Amino acid sequence: MMNQKLIERAARDLLTSKKTIAFTGAGISVESGIPDFRSAGGLWEKFDPEEYAHIHAFYANPEKVWLMLKDMFTLVMTAKPNPAHLGLAELERMGLLSTIITQNVDGLHQAAGSKNVIEFHGSHRTLSCLKCGTTTDGTLLQIEDLPARCPHCSSLLKPDVVFFGEPIPPGAQATSFRESRSCQLVLVVGTSAVVYPAASIPIMAKEAGATVIEINMEPTPLTGHVSDYLISGSAGKIIPAIVEEVKRQR
Ligand code: APR
Repeated sequence: MMNQKLIERAARDLLTSKKTIAFTGAGISVESGIPDFRSAGGLWEKFDPEEYAHIHAFYANPEKVWLMLKDMFTLVMTAKPNPAHLGLAELERMGLLSTIITQNVDGLHQAAGSKNVIEFHGSHRTLSCLKCGTTTDGTLLQIEDLPARCPHCSSLLKPDVVFFGEPIPPGAQATSFRESRSCQLVLVVGTSAVVYPAASIPIMAKEAGATVIEINMEPTPLTGHVSDYLISGSAGKIIPAIVEEVKRQR
């Protein structure tokens, strides 16, 4: 049962905010069929991130890391935006959401129609050869093409997603920090808020005076400390309910 009072409060906060951003994590794509990382049944339950998601693991044993990547790519290639992604895109069209900063690499915000999306952890859309530097288009890959090899030197390609131990793309980090310091409201959707520097985004927004609304199935380290309130439940239900309430109050 959704908390109608908090839905109404979120709609009021959206309508009064002069600049709103969203900060999203894997939870927003769960209803598109992509498991998150740390919930029961998540990707890190199946693959130890230290062994599969660290850049040194990829250098040491790319074939092994591609076992995890193949799982991820298979899901991402067939996933469609869900009502949560579509709701954020609608808020952008209504002029009520200026930027989405996402930790996700699935491209579902853009597929839902969101225009201003910052991919803090890169994206699966391109892959790079760590040997010869060739970059190839990941969207043309078929499942049978995996693991992806460089067309020039046949080494295993690495998706342009940020592995643990790699830096955040400098442009994405600088723009994200600027957005978080200049917003009045941040919607924190579907993230456990345990991975830094990404998780510093809602904290920076709070320090700059913004209201922080969490939408999550469960409390996180932000809840009760950084977030003004948590709307518990699935993003695919809560975000469309907020959009409907905004239309009602407008
Ligand atoms: N609606 C809302 N929240 C949900 C839903 C849902 N339908 N399903 C799951 N969640 C919540 C979970 O309760 C959890 O708090 O989404 C959060 C997902 O947390 P993680 O699996 O840790 O994903 P995320 O926060 O995006 O991880 C951050 O860690 O492994 C790295 O690079 C990876 O970008 C990722 C980063």
